[in-house]
Amino acid sequence: MRTPLTKRIAILFLIFVVILVCMFIVHVYMKEKDVSIDIEDEAAKVRDADEGFRLITFEDQTMEGFEGRAGSETLTVTDEENHTDDGKYALKTEGRTSTWHGPSLRVEKYVDEGTEYRVSVWVKLIEPENSQIQLSTQIGEGTSANYVNLAQKTISTWDGWIQLEGAYRYNNVSSKYLTIYVESSDNAEASFYIDDISFESTGSKIEKIQSELMPVKQSYEDEFLIGTAISSEDLAGIRFDLLTTHFNSVTAGNAMKPGELQRTKGNFTFSGADNLVDTSLDAGMKVHGHTLVWHQQSPEWMNTAIDTDGNMRYLSREEALDNMRTHIKTVVEHFADKVISWDVVNEAMSDNSTNPSDWKASLRKSPWYYSVGEDYIEQAFLAAREVLDEHPDWDIKLYYNDYNLDNQNKSLAVYNMVKEINENYQKVYPEKLLIDGIGMQGHYTVNTNPANVELSLERFIDLGVEVSISELDVQAGSNYQLSERQANDQGYLYAQLFNIFRKNAEHISRVTIWGMDDGTSWRSATNPLLFDKNLKAKPAYYGVINPDKFIEEH
Ligand code: XIL
Repeated sequence: MRTPLTKRIAILFLIFVVILVCMFIVHVYMKEKDVSIDIEDEAAKVRDADEGFRLITFEDQTMEGFEGRAGSETLTVTDEENHTDDGKYALKTEGRTSTWHGPSLRVEKYVDEGTEYRVSVWVKLIEPENSQIQLSTQIGEGTSANYVNLAQKTISTWDGWIQLEGAYRYNNVSSKYLTIYVESSDNAEASFYIDDISFESTGSKIEKIQSELMPVKQSYEDEFLIGTAISSEDLAGIRFDLLTTHFNSVTAGNAMKPGELQRTKGNFTFSGADNLVDTSLDAGMKVHGHTLVWHQQSPEWMNTAIDTDGNMRYLSREEALDNMRTHIKTVVEHFADKVISWDVVNEAMSDNSTNPSDWKASLRKSPWYYSVGEDYIEQAFLAAREVLDEHPDWDIKLYYNDYNLDNQNKSLAVYNMVKEINENYQKVYPEKLLIDGIGMQGHYTVNTNPANVELSLERFIDLGVEVSISELDVQAGSNYQLSERQANDQGYLYAQLFNIFRKNAEHISRVTIWGMDDGTSWRSATNPLLFDKNLKAKPAYYGVINPDKFIEEH
């Protein structure tokens, strides 16, 4: 039986429609698949980015993003040496002229805020025969940046390739400027190869601080201010939470030093420091100024010059004094009464004062000493005092600040110096002090004897000046490791020290701990602070907030 024509046409039409529908479905499916492949690709990229990168080998014969920190170093990809398996190339750094010079890589695009990264680099020294090589990371740009040393080794040319490895948690990436770099901390001219650099997430991420803790500042609210050293990294995110929870005063770790504020003569660069100061004030904290006159992190032009024959010479007393006075006046006037106190002179006394009664003979032979003379300390205080006298409404204390003051010889030398300078001043202004206070830095170790700290503290109090503990930290353990025993010993010393401070609280205006957590400390390798690199409270924290309880329990 034959199907009628119309029916056959209808069937064919139906088949055609079914085919069309099928084609459409396949098309839509394929399109979706494409998109999902794209999305997966993007996710993979982001995931990769967050996880860092596995290896830079220089095998493509480019510098793979590395550049000199100063710009004056010579960086070349070379086949003179290689560390990569089956590879040929490494990156050579020569022509360094300062200890901080070296190859540097921007890493912010690999970093996810709050995540910890393990950084590794292989290094081979070219010259000199021995040099200390460091792997570090920089957080932020400009004067308020933070620089953290992740690993360091003293290596020799015959060691061959040596691995430097460390870890860092980037808790604030808002600067959008993060680098890892290699430098030689003890040799300005050392040259070296690097190869096989990796930067990988450890998978550990933190998003908040411990909120149940008693704020350190609260434990001492009736006694003295509790301070810490800060950089711009501390001004946002969980680091800012930690800062504002536990501390009520700050000192710029670096941003207010002469080298940051007036690197070249007459060009004052205040923006980084201003940001630290204003943000801290807005958060209700007090600011201490550090420091006006020092032999480190100060520009050479202030007290030396290079002669036409290429030799360094000290400036004349007049020239150097003029530079000093201009710096002091400009900086003190700039920050005005935003600060409660200034370290006018830092670290003027030498470490081996064998005859502390002759304090002048005990002075450090610094460029200021050579250019201005042994009265440079007095001159610096006079310059600062003059500025304050022009602003009687400002309440700012002028400090002399130094380290190792638990050493009885050094503390006696400082005592004699401050006594004589203040007595001289009182011959003219009987009611006034020239030096208002002494800052005991307090960079201690677990072996520091607290009885010596107490002796010096009492000696300074006898002078009628106020005292601040200005840069407290206690080194314990080594190589970024801290055993339970060492952590408790450290907590014990912190507890003993805070008991001494509490006993003398009437004369102490501020106790500043030099940083918040071990991860960002300038002495990170020896774990000196109250919080660990995960911002978690250590025994040291508990020793500080309740010394009697800690001592009783340990
Ligand atoms: C340290 C800073 O913490 C570091 O970041 C920097 O690299 C070197 O200086 N005495 C002082 C402080 O007066 O200024 C020093 O601070 C630590 C020793």
